[in-house]
Amino acid sequence: MGWDPAQYLKFADERLRPALDLLQRIPAAAPETVVDLGCGAGNLAPLLLQRWPQAKLIGVDSSPEMLARARADHPGATFEQSDVASWRPPRPVDVLYSNAALHWLDHHERLFPALLQAVKPGGWLAAQMPRNFGAPSHATIVQTIEQGPWRAQLEPLVRRRPTEEPQFYWKVLSGGTCALDIWECEYLQAMQGENPVAEFTKGSWLKQFLDRLQEPQRGAFEADYRRRVAAAYPKQADGRTLFPFRRLFIVAQRAGGPGA
Ligand SMILES: C[S@@+](CC[C@H](N)C(=O)[O-])C[C@H]1O[C@@H](n2cnc3c(N)ncnc32)[C@H](O)[C@@H]1O
Repeated sequence: MGWDPAQYLKFADERLRPALDLLQRIPAAAPETVVDLGCGAGNLAPLLLQRWPQAKLIGVDSSPEMLARARADHPGATFEQSDVASWRPPRPVDVLYSNAALHWLDHHERLFPALLQAVKPGGWLAAQMPRNFGAPSHATIVQTIEQGPWRAQLEPLVRRRPTEEPQFYWKVLSGGTCALDIWECEYLQAMQGENPVAEFTKGSWLKQFLDRLQEPQRGAFEADYRRRVAAAYPKQADGRTLFPFRRLFIVAQRAGGPGA
C-alpha cells in the first residue's frame, strides 16, 4: 500500500509513546550499529541517536513515500529501501529495533528467529507491534468489508492475526536468547477532534483497504466505516474520545555473547 506520512503523523504523540517505552527497555550501552526496521518517516532517528550518539544508524523501510520524508527530515541518518521479509544485514548488528512495523509481515514463526540471527551474539532485538485487532477500531474494518459490495475485492486482503499472543513470541525466541522480556500495555488514548479513531486508522491499517477501491466505492467504504467506528467510540462530556489501544513489546538478547 502507499503511505501518507502527514496522515500517519497526525497522531505523532500517541504513536511515539510506545516507541519510547520500547527504547528505554533496551539495555545496550554503546552499540556500534543500530537498525530501525520499518523506520517509516524516520521520526525515531533523533531519539535513537540521542540514546546512542556514537552509533551508526540505518533506517530500513519498503515505502518510497515514507523514505522520501525520512531523507528530507533527517539528512544525518542512512535510509535503505528494502522489504524486511528478505532484508538481512551484511553482518550481524548490535541493536535491531522495530516500532509498529513487523505486524505488516506474515510468518512470524520464521521472521522473528531470522531477525534474531541478524543480531550479534549478546546484541538486542526489540520490537513493538499493535495488538488491537480485536477492538472495534479494527474489527469494524473487517465488518465493513464483509457487509458491503466490496467484499469479494477486499476480503482476500484481510489478515486475522497480524500479531500473535505473547506466548507465541516467547516460544519462537526463547531457544536463541539469554534474556527475553515480553509484555503488553494498553494505552488509554484521550483524543481530540471529529472521529479521531477513524482518522488514526486512516493513517495506518485502514489505508491498505481504501487504496484498493476507486471512487465512488472508496468514499462509500470510508463513510460506512466512519459511522461504525464513531458509534463504538462516543465522545466524552469534555469532547474527547477515549481510544484504548493494546500493544505488544519484545526485548530479546541473542545468546552466545561475551560472558554468556
Ligand atoms: C506504522 S509505520 C511505523 C513507522 C515507524 N517505525 C514509526 O514508529 O513511526 C509502519 C512502517 O512499516 C513499513 N513496512 C511495512 N511492511 C514492510 C516491509 N515488508 N518491509 C519494510 N517496511 C515495511 C511501512 O512502509 C511503514 O513505514
